[in-house]
Amino acid sequence: MTHTPAREILVTSALPYANGSIHLGHMLEYIQTDIWVRFQRHIGNKCHYVCADDAHGTAIMLRAEQEGITPEQLIAKVQAEHEQDFANFKVSFDNFYSTHSPENREFSEYIYNACEAKGHIATRTITQAFDPEKQLFLADRFIKGTCPKCKTEDQYGDNCEACGATYSPTDLINPKSAISGATPVQKDSTHLFFKLPDFEAMLKEWTRSGSLQSEIANKLAEWLDSGLQEWDISRDAPYFGFEIPGQENKFFYVWLDAPIGYMASFKNLCERTAELDFDHYWNKNSSTELYHFIGKDIINFHGLFWPAMLHAAEFRTPTAVYAHGFLTVNGQKMSKSRGTFIKAGTYLSHLQPEYLRYYFAAKLNNKVDDLDLNLEDFMQRVNSDLVGKVVNIASRSAGFISKKFDGQLSTTVSEPELIASFANEQHNIAALYENREFGKAIKAIMALADQANQYIADKAPWVLAKQEGSEQEVQDVCSTGLNLFRMLMIYLKPVLPTMSDNAATFLNDDLAWSGLNKPLISHAINKFKPLMTRIEASQIDAMIEDSKVEVAKELALKEKQNPTPKATPLEANPIAEEINFDDFSKVDLRVVRIVKAEAVKGADKLLRLELDLGGETRQVLSGIKSSYKPEDLTDKMTILVANLAPRKMKFGVSEGMILAAGGDEGIYLLEPDQGAVAGTRVS
Ligand code: 2FM
Ligand code: ZN
Repeated sequence: MTHTPAREILVTSALPYANGSIHLGHMLEYIQTDIWVRFQRHIGNKCHYVCADDAHGTAIMLRAEQEGITPEQLIAKVQAEHEQDFANFKVSFDNFYSTHSPENREFSEYIYNACEAKGHIATRTITQAFDPEKQLFLADRFIKGTCPKCKTEDQYGDNCEACGATYSPTDLINPKSAISGATPVQKDSTHLFFKLPDFEAMLKEWTRSGSLQSEIANKLAEWLDSGLQEWDISRDAPYFGFEIPGQENKFFYVWLDAPIGYMASFKNLCERTAELDFDHYWNKNSSTELYHFIGKDIINFHGLFWPAMLHAAEFRTPTAVYAHGFLTVNGQKMSKSRGTFIKAGTYLSHLQPEYLRYYFAAKLNNKVDDLDLNLEDFMQRVNSDLVGKVVNIASRSAGFISKKFDGQLSTTVSEPELIASFANEQHNIAALYENREFGKAIKAIMALADQANQYIADKAPWVLAKQEGSEQEVQDVCSTGLNLFRMLMIYLKPVLPTMSDNAATFLNDDLAWSGLNKPLISHAINKFKPLMTRIEASQIDAMIEDSKVEVAKELALKEKQNPTPKATPLEANPIAEEINFDDFSKVDLRVVRIVKAEAVKGADKLLRLELDLGGETRQVLSGIKSSYKPEDLTDKMTILVANLAPRKMKFGVSEGMILAAGGDEGIYLLEPDQGAVAGTRVS
């Protein structure tokens, strides 16, 4: 056998902004990348996977201000949440860093200085909208006003959501700063521009390198043909970012230092990994491979500015940029009001990460197409493929081996052809993974799972087990069944890391790719434990309800933090009629402890609750009986509308109302985070 040297590969996913939670749309990309990375490692390549939070920009600065914390505190808080979500979804980053890091500052300055020294930076004065109250320049999305075409109010500065018109913010009728509500004025400022047209020839060549998806290559060719524009890379203070060397009060635009964050994260990894050499991966003649997985909305940054900047500073350019489409849920754009804008954390409170990893894998291809998460199909697919097909093979074979043969597999391979036919699929499956045709890989693996199930059904070891003199055959059939299961798990390992870890423990084997050519014989296995449970529709329903509650909570919080009506580009309240801050601030919400709960005689739905408000006690009658047993409620913390006028009801007086989500399909009391003390005001 010839030995092919391991490829050296560096992979990135787009850097998430440090001002919001990770949602399932983001997860599509991280899962896609992670499957590819795990596959590369599985077949023996050296594959490093880095990412970081994208921590700079006006949005992050304003968000921190609204929360009354520093941008550094905000990005640290968000990074911790992001890292937790990624770890829970088994995204196997070698490093997750931040663009607000010393390495990133150094590389950003270095690349900028190199561009400047070579004459690729231009300076000129531009006129922009300026918020006279906040004393800052306003990007288009921070200006709102009435659409000049259809006259719908409250539209962003660059396009109208009602009629789809695009325009410049100066065309808006009655424009207002979305930050302060002030009327913007026009103001001059000197900006720095990266002279992208200098790189036309280089970009044309890079675009034709052959490793780009055709959709990307075509898009880039279109831009290149219509003429490249200089790119504004500076922003005026106040701005959260890196100051531009040699300039006063000017900062790098967030999109300049964001992709440089890929390098910075890798550099940071090299600093603590002896055998990794930064220059080996980034020098302009590097033999290593560099891939960026991104969404289709940021192709221009990765396909034009980024390779040009790298080239200017004499670093290597990416081997390829792989773009994917957007995620839709149940055929539509993710929607906060429908509860389909699902955060990673909300998903994880109800469902296992590997269900989603599997479903995304089953539907992914190497095109830029959008992918639909149809929740009904999701449940059926996972239940039927993973539980019904794959796990079933193991569970039907394992019992006999443990009980009758003391966990020992047969000493010979009784079905060499069947085993070989599974192993022979490795080249096809590997090629599909390599080409990011995960859906086709899953289809090929499930066809094998069908064959394995058919084999067991034909042999029916449960019938053989009752026949005298068939012991050896039972052991052989079940050993074959388990070997087939093992090969399926080797193939599925990049997609299902936890399930394959558990299968590895059960099979007492490391499920290495090379194991495909070495079936287990005379091998002791461990006791079988269920490897995956079915998805229940109620779990999905609860996740959707929870997502709606999340939105409602977030809106309340934003209103609280941002008292000026319409002061930030908020999505309209999808749940109820819009109220202003004054309306909201009239509501006195308090953390309360349920001291006692009891049924109300004669009432079907009500429970009588005795609540501790931190010294004061209240009685509330609440319609939550259908979802809660009184004894389960003692000592639970929840939220009370404390200044609701007492209501005289048929069964007594209710002194306030506790908050719960849901309706006919279930009721969910809102609970403050652990540690909240009774009586505390909720704001
Ligand atoms: O679009 C986004 O969410 C950006 N934060 C992606 C940055 S990717 C890279 F270039 F840093
Ligand atoms: Zn309009």
